[in-house]
Amino acid sequence: MNKHEVLLLENIHPAAGEVFERNDFVVHTRSHSLGEDDLIEALQGMSMVGIRSNTKVTERVLDNAPDLLAIGAFCIGTNQIDLDAAAQRGIAAFNAPYSNTRSVVELVIGEIIALARRLPEKTQRMHDGIWDKSAQGSHEVRGRTLGIVGYGNIGTQLSNLAEALGFRVIFFDTADRLAHGNARRVGTLDQLLAESDVVTLHVDGRPGNAGMFGAAEFAKMKPRSMFINASRGMVVDDVALREHILSGHIAGAALDVFPVEPKAQGDPFESALRGLPNVILTPHVGGSTQEAQEEIGFFVAGKLSNFINGGSTALSVNLPEVAAPPLEGGSRIALLHHNVPGVLAKVNQILADHEANVCAQYLSTRGEQGYVVTDTSTEMPAGAIDGLREADHTIWLRTY
Ligand SMILES: NC(=O)c1ccc[n+]([C@@H]2O[C@H](COP(=O)([O-])OP(=O)(O)OC[C@H]3O[C@@H](n4cnc5c(N)ncnc54)[C@H](O)[C@@H]3O)[C@@H](O)[C@H]2O)c1
Repeated sequence: MNKHEVLLLENIHPAAGEVFERNDFVVHTRSHSLGEDDLIEALQGMSMVGIRSNTKVTERVLDNAPDLLAIGAFCIGTNQIDLDAAAQRGIAAFNAPYSNTRSVVELVIGEIIALARRLPEKTQRMHDGIWDKSAQGSHEVRGRTLGIVGYGNIGTQLSNLAEALGFRVIFFDTADRLAHGNARRVGTLDQLLAESDVVTLHVDGRPGNAGMFGAAEFAKMKPRSMFINASRGMVVDDVALREHILSGHIAGAALDVFPVEPKAQGDPFESALRGLPNVILTPHVGGSTQEAQEEIGFFVAGKLSNFINGGSTALSVNLPEVAAPPLEGGSRIALLHHNVPGVLAKVNQILADHEANVCAQYLSTRGEQGYVVTDTSTEMPAGAIDGLREADHTIWLRTY
């Protein structure tokens, strides 16, 4: 059987290529993105393509890439891929939503200390040639209260690191989240705002979070407390934050995300927060480190390999998710089908008719598709494979 080939574009970290090579795939790399026509040409013979944010995988590309089985977005966002069109063609897409968690947490920790010591002002004065050795307004962080809003992947990891620095950690989350270490859950956002010396937002981008933090919330924060947002720009009212910084109520702030962010490298940046004292502004770089790139390379390549080698769609962003474990002995059929009633019964009837001894079965549906992975203890009977492949509801069937 021919080896699977994968095309990696846009300088994807070499960790990805290493994973693919360990899985015996042939790797082709290019340092840049490709336009539609060039991409179509380059995808001939490719089972997989790895992209970052600059390569657009359109419906036309998908229609003209007959060998393509899976797409890896080696980044967080997947807007550059026509996910529905890929799903309709049974092409799985994966991304790396959590590989930069640690990088965000480290930035936030650094910012908290920098704000507590008023480093933005201190360093600016030094660059202006002014020696100002005052301890006024500078604080240690140990013993202070950190309020984390949104206790998910980032919030919990921040909780652990902040405790190690001597913070008392409290958190508020709309979902039921288990407290890490000595962190304490509070029942309302207001309670968190009333108790925290530093408030840091790590909520997700659900539409209901738009504008969730505005004038009323800043007013409820403790006088001279600090504010950080490295989650989504749209959750914070920047004008209200500006007013509370100018009034002195907020003693410092760090923002990595903004309601409107420039599209391209070098574009001008407009914000109500420019030029304010003790405010750190960073261009959405919370997750941008070499280590995160490596982790993304490793993570997405692993997902693609597990899909090609064993049919696992765990964490796919467009196909039904089945986290099928690696096959140990026996054989496996993976079947992507139209999501209509009675498919599972028909699948099992065909397997029973051919005396296939099923030892495990995994099923999931998503929108118009269903996915069923069936393991048998012995070799899958050829008649069962043919019968399932020819069934009306089948989109594709693969054997392992
Ligand atoms: N700055 C960057 O470069 C960067 C990098 C990675 C992630 N992020 C962003 O950071 C945020 C957190 O990421 P994550 O991986 O921890 O996400 P996550 O989904 O693991 O956690 C989000 C948590 O927020 C909670 N939540 C949602 N709305 C809430 C609300 N109104 N009040 C309280 N809790 C609420 C959820 O229940 C969940 O526990 C996301 O918005 C993500 O896009 C930014």
